[in-house]
Amino acid sequence: MPPGNRGYQPAVANDETTITVYPDGPYLVRGPIDLRDADGQTIRVDRPVIALCRCGKSLIRPFCDGTHKHAGFKAGDKAEHRGVPGNG
Ligand code: FES
Repeated sequence: MPPGNRGYQPAVANDETTITVYPDGPYLVRGPIDLRDADGQTIRVDRPVIALCRCGKSLIRPFCDGTHKHAGFKAGDKAEHRGVPGNG
């Protein structure tokens, strides 16, 4: 969990995966996932919750290292689109 967690803890079943957009920060991924790099190589994930960098500044990408705070990353708190683009 990144520092400064504002209490985002959606209730989900253990086998359900959720991705939560953290305000001006990472994507928080809870639940089982198969994470791979651009070459298709598996990135081992052995935590129940991971934070994926959204600002592009982390030194441990794809994971968040908290650098977004120092970089002043601002992405807004709300989703701008509530569906998959192109699906109506
Ligand atoms: S979102 Fe945290 S370092 Fe990029």
